[in-house]
Amino acid sequence: MKILITGGAGFIGGNFIHYMLNKYNDYSFVCLDALTYAGNMETIETLLNKVNFKFVKGNICDKDLVFNLFEKEQFDIVVNFAAESHVDRSIENPRIFLESNILGVQVLMDACLKYKVKRYHQVSTDEVYGDLPLERIDLFFTEDSPIKTSSPYSASKASADLLVLAYSKTFNLPMTISRCSNNYGPYHFPEKLIPLMINKALNNEQLPVYGNGSNVRDWLYVEDHCSAIDLIIHKGNIGEIYNIGGHNEKSNLDVVKIILKLLNKDESLISYVKDRPGHDLRYAIDPTKILRLGWEPKHNFETGIQETIKWNLEHDDWIRRVQSGEYLKWMERQYKW
Ligand SMILES: NC(=O)c1ccc[n+]([C@@H]2O[C@H](COP(=O)([O-])OP(=O)(O)OC[C@H]3O[C@@H](n4cnc5c(N)ncnc54)[C@H](O)[C@@H]3O)[C@@H](O)[C@H]2O)c1
Repeated sequence: MKILITGGAGFIGGNFIHYMLNKYNDYSFVCLDALTYAGNMETIETLLNKVNFKFVKGNICDKDLVFNLFEKEQFDIVVNFAAESHVDRSIENPRIFLESNILGVQVLMDACLKYKVKRYHQVSTDEVYGDLPLERIDLFFTEDSPIKTSSPYSASKASADLLVLAYSKTFNLPMTISRCSNNYGPYHFPEKLIPLMINKALNNEQLPVYGNGSNVRDWLYVEDHCSAIDLIIHKGNIGEIYNIGGHNEKSNLDVVKIILKLLNKDESLISYVKDRPGHDLRYAIDPTKILRLGWEPKHNFETGIQETIKWNLEHDDWIRRVQSGEYLKWMERQYKW
């Protein structure tokens, strides 16, 4: 089995590569990544000497490069993590989100059709469903919830999902889609909420919380997301969408307070800042369908956050190089480019 993993130098794709290489000795893997600011070779560097793993630097929007790669490698499965993923950046500059998150998906699917790939899996997000009212804790997103996006990021991901479904119906593309809630864990880019707060707390800096911190997210430890995708690409039904979430809903303020408590820091470090425009109130996933497929998350928020803090404490070098921008020079250092 040969699997293409796009966006594998990023947070979740990188974790997925570690997870899959660890589990399947007899598969081979190729990672295609453009190494944008969010791609970090140091996340997957220890895997580069494995005989069944190869890294290719390139953009999923580059049709010639993608088609040549598919021709050469003859993939069985494609898992697409490559995307612009930061909501705040999509508010500043939506254009690049439309290019990578929609047009790049089209290029990958065209290549899958041409080279008869057995499965295209699109990694999507629960953000395509918009938000739920804070007070209606009885409501959850199911796979049939309407698409109702709030940010250019979620609109680009929803557009991609619709395009994938259209390719399934029009061209018989063998596809699956997963829509996961917010992830956290190892190799998380330090601009995102949880690693940002851990690192600020460790440095005794102010922890900036949007608005009054009441926005609720459904947090999933990244390894559980990886095991869900592994299950879907092997056992999921072609043409289906699967929501992934572990019922770990927490308000942003609760998350920050838990981090401060675990690090023995005072809540006076919290500072409330102006809210993000269009900030979604509550995300909550109904994972019944993927649970029925046989998925079992191994972590709840309490265990996952402790693992994450431990990882951050043990990898201050990785974090420092991301914060200083040094990680961007990896290619230069390795290959003297
Ligand atoms: N982070 C979350 O909580 C979360 C939750 C649900 C779904 N998702 C989805 O999971 C996927 C991965 O998210 P992440 O948090 O790991 O993102 P990330 O920003 O950490 O990583 C994205 C990776 O994709 C690469 N990339 C970006 N544009 C590319 C392009 N045009 N061609 C090739 N590579 C490109 C980047 O270099 C980077 O390595 C995304 O599709 C995202 O929408 C994320």
